[in-house]
Amino acid sequence: MLRLHYEHISPFVDPAAMDREAAAAREAHRLLIEKSGPGGDATGWRDLLARPDYALLEDIAETARHIRNEADILICIGIGGSYLGAEAVIQALSPTFRGHAETPEVLFAGHHMSGAYLHDLLEYVQGKSVFVNVISKSGRTLEPAIAFRCVRQYLEQNFDDANKRIIVTTDPKKGALNTLRAIRGYKKYVIPENVGGRFSVLTPVGLLPVAVAGIDIHALFKGAANALAQLAHPNDNPALSYAAIRSALLKQGLSIDLLSVFEPALYGFGRWWQQLFGESEGKNRTGLFPFVAQYSTDLHSIGQYVQEGQRSLMETFLMVEQTGHALSVPEESASGAENLDGLDYLTGRSLQAINRAAWEGTARAHADGDVPNLTLWLEEISPTSIGEAIYFFEHAVSVSGYLLGVNPFDQPGVEAYKKEMFKRLGKP
Ligand code: PA5
Repeated sequence: MLRLHYEHISPFVDPAAMDREAAAAREAHRLLIEKSGPGGDATGWRDLLARPDYALLEDIAETARHIRNEADILICIGIGGSYLGAEAVIQALSPTFRGHAETPEVLFAGHHMSGAYLHDLLEYVQGKSVFVNVISKSGRTLEPAIAFRCVRQYLEQNFDDANKRIIVTTDPKKGALNTLRAIRGYKKYVIPENVGGRFSVLTPVGLLPVAVAGIDIHALFKGAANALAQLAHPNDNPALSYAAIRSALLKQGLSIDLLSVFEPALYGFGRWWQQLFGESEGKNRTGLFPFVAQYSTDLHSIGQYVQEGQRSLMETFLMVEQTGHALSVPEESASGAENLDGLDYLTGRSLQAINRAAWEGTARAHADGDVPNLTLWLEEISPTSIGEAIYFFEHAVSVSGYLLGVNPFDQPGVEAYKKEMFKRLGKP
């Protein structure tokens, strides 16, 4: 189970303020559970864990098996919540280097508007067996719509059975993807109306790409359902503690929450977290700005700023108790050398232990540099613990949004750039 460790918070927050935030977090938790807060009708992501649709999970697993048998490549087309969750889970749970992988390569498109990227992608997939999963709740987002038109044309020109290679994941009824699908007969998965994009990773939005990548979606789902049960009660609830601490620090004037990971496999998870918190909290001129860092890589870049720059940061470390694949610093004398690199003091120590020392030292140093920090520990990087972490942060951000007095489930601000862009593009 997840563990929240916050010894480097206490010196920064007055206990009375912390008690007030904790009480407010319990009240926010009640609003979430009872669906009585703003956007309460968009909390279907909790219901689908409480009452799992096992037939749907099996259907997705079956479609994924078919794609795994037939495809070299799955192109997932989507942006924001229709993309980041799948990328996060696949990156966390797939081998770092593909080698002779037996599962299709999962590639992404429609998550920006770079023509160079799309051109290179279509060149890369030449001669390979390609399937496509186009994912858009609204069915009218420009980035995936353009990518889908280009990729669809490629498929139609290269495969007689193009329509059987396209799977649509969208709203039950609305949007252009439903129109297209009605004419071309694509297979379709539904994004429930009461689940918003950034909360949709455990719907077909995330589950199909993840299953194609060979990841056990039942275990992923189960991990999230376990966390739903664990976090159902307001007492001893680490998601509420996380939300309360963030709120207390925001009120003290901090403005950034830096999520730092020490395993590169979790960087994509950090990007998913970044969207979840950014889109849920950043409204009405409030919220902590979420930013993700990969350590120790970034300790050699933004680490300087974190240690000594403007004091506006708190930090959330996302750590793993057991990383598996043990690797230790080898003995040098075996090859005849004599401690020429000065590393003999580390001989026999595991990389995991060294990485852990780096976290411990960083957490201490950042606290000494006036960056309050806490650590969320995952037991391991497995489908179950990633599922737990997904639900943990979804619950925490909902409570956190209510503490800020905003609706955590809408995103009115993302329309502004679209309006300006469409004006310039002459959209009728
Ligand atoms: O979280 C959200 O709601 C957004 O990030 C959406 O997922 C994103 O804008 C894509 O929207 P759609 O799935 O409608 O194409």
